[in-house]
Amino acid sequence: MLVASNRGPVRFVADPDAPGGYRAVPAAGGVASALRPLLVDGGTATPVTWVAVAASDDDRAATAAGASPVVHGARAGDDTGADLDLVLLDLDPDVARRHYDEVSNAVLWFLYHGMFDHVSAPTFDVDFTRAWAAYTEVNRAFADALAARAAPDDVVLVQDYHLALTPGLLRAARPDLRIVHFTHTPFCGPNSIRTLPDAVASELLASMASVPCGFHTDRWARSYAASVREVLGADTEPVTFTAPLGPDPAALAALAATPAATAATAELDRLIGDRAAIVRVDRVEPSKNIARGFVAYDRLLADHPEWRERVVFVALLNASRETVPAYVRYAEEVAAAAAAVNARWATPTWQPVVVDTRDDYPRSIAGLARADVVMVNPIRDGLNLVAKEAPIVSTRDAVLCCSPEAGSYAELAGACLEFHPFDVAAGATALHAALTMGPRERAERAARLRSLAAAHSPQTWLDAQIAAARAPRG
Ligand code: F6P
Repeated sequence: MLVASNRGPVRFVADPDAPGGYRAVPAAGGVASALRPLLVDGGTATPVTWVAVAASDDDRAATAAGASPVVHGARAGDDTGADLDLVLLDLDPDVARRHYDEVSNAVLWFLYHGMFDHVSAPTFDVDFTRAWAAYTEVNRAFADALAARAAPDDVVLVQDYHLALTPGLLRAARPDLRIVHFTHTPFCGPNSIRTLPDAVASELLASMASVPCGFHTDRWARSYAASVREVLGADTEPVTFTAPLGPDPAALAALAATPAATAATAELDRLIGDRAAIVRVDRVEPSKNIARGFVAYDRLLADHPEWRERVVFVALLNASRETVPAYVRYAEEVAAAAAAVNARWATPTWQPVVVDTRDDYPRSIAGLARADVVMVNPIRDGLNLVAKEAPIVSTRDAVLCCSPEAGSYAELAGACLEFHPFDVAAGATALHAALTMGPRERAERAARLRSLAAAHSPQTWLDAQIAAARAPRG
C-alpha cells in the first residue's frame, strides 16, 4: 500500500547523537496525525510506502544523508511489524512554495472554505499561471514517485487538496493501481468552482474524477459531484464515498494521563479557579473564525452582566501557514479581537480572555478536558476533530457549541448546541445557554456526544479508503 500527502508523518531535526545525524519527530497536521499512529507507530500488516514533501532544510539534509528512507515504527524488530518506507521529495524550494502557499493555501483552501471576498480576490494573472505550473510539477513528482514504487495492483491513498492532479497523472502512468483520493477540506459547489480559470477547473476535476473520491461528510461529496457535473458535463457521474475520521479514544486517554497533560491541568486550574471555562483549540486559521468567536463572547458579557468575573475564555492556539500573507494578517486580527475584549471588561482580578499560543498538544487536550463549554465555530471546516476530541476527554460534561459548517456537526447535531458562525448575537445566546445548562441535561448531552464522537476512528477511516480503492471498478 502507498500513501501520498504533502506533509509527511514525521519531520527531521539535526541531532548529532542520532544515527545519520538526524532524528525523526512527529509532524503536525491532521492527516499526518491520523495516519501516523496506524502506519508508523503501530506498524501494519502490510508494508507501507509514504511519499511526502521534504518540508524543511533539515528534512532535505536528512534525505540527502540517507536518514529518511526508512522510518522504523515502534514494532520494527518485532517479527510481525512492517516498516514504513518514507520517501521525502526534495523539491526546488520555489516550486514547493508556489505549490503550497500560492495554489494550495491561497487559492484552493480559500475556494473550498468559501473565504474569498470576490470584490477584491482572487485575480488570476501570469503569477498564477506560474504557480499552477509549479502545482502541476509537484503533483507530477508525487505521481512519478508512486508509479516507480507501486507493485502491480497496489492500493494508493492520495491525500488532500495539495495533490488533486496526482490521481489523474498516476492513473495514466499505471492503470493497474487501485487509487483513491481523500479530501480533508470541504469542497465547493458548482457556482463557486467557476471562480477557477476554466482550464484549471477542468484539469483538477478530471483528475479527481478519474478515481473514487472520499470526503468527511456527505455535504462535501455532493458539492464535489455537482461541481464535476457543472464543469465536465451533466452525464459525468463521479464515484464518491463518505468516511468521517474520528479520534482514537484510547490514545486520547493515554495522552490525558501523561505528566505533561497533568501539569497543564494544574496550570489551567490555577488560571481558571472556580470560574467557568470556555475553551477553544485551533490553528490560527481564518476559516476557524477565531476573531468572531471573541466578538460573540464580548456580546455575552455585554448582554449578561452576571457572567462578568465568572467566566474565562481560554483560547489555545497554534501558529499556522505563516508564509501566507492572509494568515499573518489574520493572526493580528485575532490578537486585536482578544485584546479588545480584555480592554473592555477586565478588572484587577479578572482577565476575560487568555490566549495561549504555545502549540502544545497535551496542553490542548488538558484544556478540552477542563472546559465547561467548548467553542467550535468555523466559517466552514472539512471535519473539525476538536469537536470530537472534546467530548471524549471531557471531565466536566462540557457543552459543545458547534458551527453547522463544521463537517463534524452532521454527526453531532442534536447533542451539541448550534453556534452560528456569523450571527454573533445567536452565538452569545448559545454560550449563555451552555453556561446555564443544568447538570442533568449536560450529563445527558455529554453521554450522547461521547458515543457519537467515538463512532468512527482513524482505523475505520483508513479501512473505508482501502475498501473504496479495492471496490470493483465500473
Ligand atoms: O484539513 C487539511 C489539512 O491539511 C490538515 O491535514 C491539517 O491539519 C491542516 O490542513 C493544516 O495543514 P498544513 O499545516 O499542513 O498546511
